[in-house]
Amino acid sequence: MRIVILNNSDDVAAYGAQLIIRQIQTKPDSVLGLATGSSPMKLYDKLVEAVAAGDVSLSQCVSFNLDEYVGLAPDHDQSYRSFMQKHLFERVDIRIENTHVPDGLALDPEDMCAQYEQAIRDHHGIDFQLLGIGANGHIGFNEPSSSLRSRTRIKTLTMQTVEDNARFFRADEFQPELAITMGIETIMESRQIMLLATGEHKAAAVKAMIEGPVSASCPASILQFHPKATIVLDTAAAGQLENTQFYQRVEQEAQKFEAK
Ligand code: GLP
Repeated sequence: MRIVILNNSDDVAAYGAQLIIRQIQTKPDSVLGLATGSSPMKLYDKLVEAVAAGDVSLSQCVSFNLDEYVGLAPDHDQSYRSFMQKHLFERVDIRIENTHVPDGLALDPEDMCAQYEQAIRDHHGIDFQLLGIGANGHIGFNEPSSSLRSRTRIKTLTMQTVEDNARFFRADEFQPELAITMGIETIMESRQIMLLATGEHKAAAVKAMIEGPVSASCPASILQFHPKATIVLDTAAAGQLENTQFYQRVEQEAQKFEAK
């Protein structure tokens, strides 16, 4: 794991955006795995700025989102399809037909999940997967106890996740407690992974992910097995780590090496 600790969420977004921009510049037809939630929002703003400035183009990119709520139509305000349209897709030059988000209204969800996996395979896999982390260590909507070998499927959300995400829903609005999510093995097959975490409320999950045992109790800990995973943190999210100085020293050395 490459562990990058930065001062604040703006720096995390800038660093993350640079990594994803470099990926697209190197491979303009990159297959991107995308995430929703608060964590990637500033990164998406920076990507929008880079596209507007002509530094990068998503016109040949294909995207697959991690997850979607069961029971929400794509045009529902709180659907993850709507989130992506609003925060990224409608603001950049990606072709909408190249963007994929699981269908929350699928009549045969099992078949839809199998087709989602097939579509990823048809595009030769995900080049670069962006992730956030839940306060309980989930990635996508793979809650604690999810199989570390899981594929795209329906998951029941924990009450903590339902409560954490309640801020996006009006008090009188239906909030789903089921979601479709890429599986942990699906995520792990991505060639490169970048996880962003900011804020003190993520510190315990970040510690379990980086310094705890690999365990289904903290699904994000599986990233310890990934050959190319970068974890980008602000100091608050890194607050419970024990080996911070070591990670900072390794990162300084890595940057010196890359600058050569
Ligand atoms: C949500 C999403 C995840 C996201 C996580 C953290 O429930 N399903 O993909 O990474 O929880 O969300 P946030 O970035 O808003 O803290």
